[in-house]
Amino acid sequence: MAVSRGAFSSRIGFIMAAAGSAVGLGNIWGFPTQTASNGGAAFVLVYLILAFCLAYPAFMAEILIGRYGQANAVTSLQKMSRTLWQKRFGFVVGFGGIICAALILSFYGILAGWMMSFAVEPLALMLGANQAADWVVNQSLERNLLFTVLFMFLTIFIIRKGVENGIEKWSKRLMPMMIGLLVLLIIYVFTLDGASEGVEAYLNPDISRVLDPNLLVSALGQAFFSLSLGTSVMVIYGSYISKKENMVSIGAQVTLIDVSIAFLAGLLIIPAMYVAQAQGVAIFAADGSLNSGPTLVFDVLPSLFDGMGGIGLFIGFAFFLLMTIAALTSSISMLEGPVSYAVERHDIERKKATTMIGLAILALSVVIVANIDFMLDLVATISTQYGQPIIAMLCCVFAGWIWYRNELLAEIKQGNEAVESSLFWKIWPWYIKFVCPVAIATVFIHSIL
Ligand code: TRP
Repeated sequence: MAVSRGAFSSRIGFIMAAAGSAVGLGNIWGFPTQTASNGGAAFVLVYLILAFCLAYPAFMAEILIGRYGQANAVTSLQKMSRTLWQKRFGFVVGFGGIICAALILSFYGILAGWMMSFAVEPLALMLGANQAADWVVNQSLERNLLFTVLFMFLTIFIIRKGVENGIEKWSKRLMPMMIGLLVLLIIYVFTLDGASEGVEAYLNPDISRVLDPNLLVSALGQAFFSLSLGTSVMVIYGSYISKKENMVSIGAQVTLIDVSIAFLAGLLIIPAMYVAQAQGVAIFAADGSLNSGPTLVFDVLPSLFDGMGGIGLFIGFAFFLLMTIAALTSSISMLEGPVSYAVERHDIERKKATTMIGLAILALSVVIVANIDFMLDLVATISTQYGQPIIAMLCCVFAGWIWYRNELLAEIKQGNEAVESSLFWKIWPWYIKFVCPVAIATVFIHSIL
C-alpha cells in the first residue's frame, strides 16, 4: 500500500480521541432525555450495568480487531479470516459498519447544526440582533441547511488534516474544554431553587421499573450508540494505537470517561428541569410523562437560561457551545470510518477522499433536511436501532468464533504481559463468544417485535 498510515502519537491522544468519539450528543442530550422519559434513576442504574457488562466487552472486541489488523474495518476483519466465505463475511460486516457510520453522520450533522444555532442565539441577542436571534432558533429549511453545512465543513476540515494533526490535536483541545464547561454549569445549576428535587429523582431508583423490557431496550441502544459501536469507528481508532499499549486498561478508561460524562450530563439536565419547573415552566404532563420529550434541551434549557437574566445569555452560549464541541469530536470519528477505507483500499489521497466523502454525506443530509418530517427519524432508526446492534453483534461473532484463539490472546497480551493473571483474560474470550452475541440478539429481537 502506497500510503503510510496515521497513528495516535500518545496514549492520552488516543484516549481523548476515542472518548471524544464516544462522548457526544448521545451523552449530553440522548442520555438525560432517555433518563427523564424512562423513570429517572431506574434507567440510570440499568444503563450503568449494561454499559459495563455488554457495551464494554463489545467495545474491546472492536478496538482489538482494529489493532490486530492495523487497517480499516474491512481489511482488519479480512485479515483474521481464513476461508473465502469468511472474507466475504468480513467485507459485509466491515463495509456495513462504514455505511452505518455515514448514515449516522448524515443525520447527526443536522442535530449538531441545531446545537450551533442555539449557541449563536445568545450571541445575536448580546449584539442586539433580535430578529436574527429569532431566526436561528426557529425551525426552518434555510436555518437547518445553513447550520448543517457549517457543521459538516468543520468536520471535513479536521479530518482532512489526518490522525495526529486533525483528530488527536482537536480532541485533546476540545475534550478538556467540554468537561470544564460541563462541571461549571452543574455547579451553577446546583445553586438554584428546585435542583435538589431533581437530584433526588435522578439518584433514587424505583426498583420496580428496572426490569421493564422497554427500559432495557432503550438503555442498551443508548449504551451502544454512546460507545460508537457497530460502525467501524472503533475498529479504525483501535488500528491507530501502538502495539505497546495495554488495550484492556485503555478500553476501560474510555468506557469510564464515556459513562461518567453521560452521568454528569444527567446531573446537569435533570436538576435543570426541576429548576425550570420551580420557575413555572411545565415539564411533566398530568400523567407524569415528559412534555417535550426529544426536544427537552431546546425547550427546557433555554427557558431556564431566559429566567436568569443577563447571565443567562452567557450560560446559554456556554451550554450550546459545549454541545457543539461534543458533537464535533464525535462527527469526526464517523467521517474517519469511510475515509480510512477509501484511502487504504482505493489508494485515494486523504484530503481528496475526505472532501469527496464529506460532501456526499452532506448531500444526503440536505435531502434529509428537505424531507425532515419523515426522513430524520427513518435514517436514525435504520442506522442506530438496526445497523448498530447487528454489526456490533457480528463483530463479537468475528472475535469469538472466527479469530483464532491463540492470535486473539496474543493480541490482548501485546503491551500487557501481566494480563494472564487478570479477570479479563479468564472471562472475556468466552464472554465475547457466547454471552455478548446472545444478549445483543435477544435485546435486538425484542426491540423489533
Ligand atoms: N457516541 C457518540 C454520541 O454519543 C455518537 C457517535 C460518534 C457515534 N461516533 C459514532 C455513534 C459512530 C455511532 C457510530 O453522541
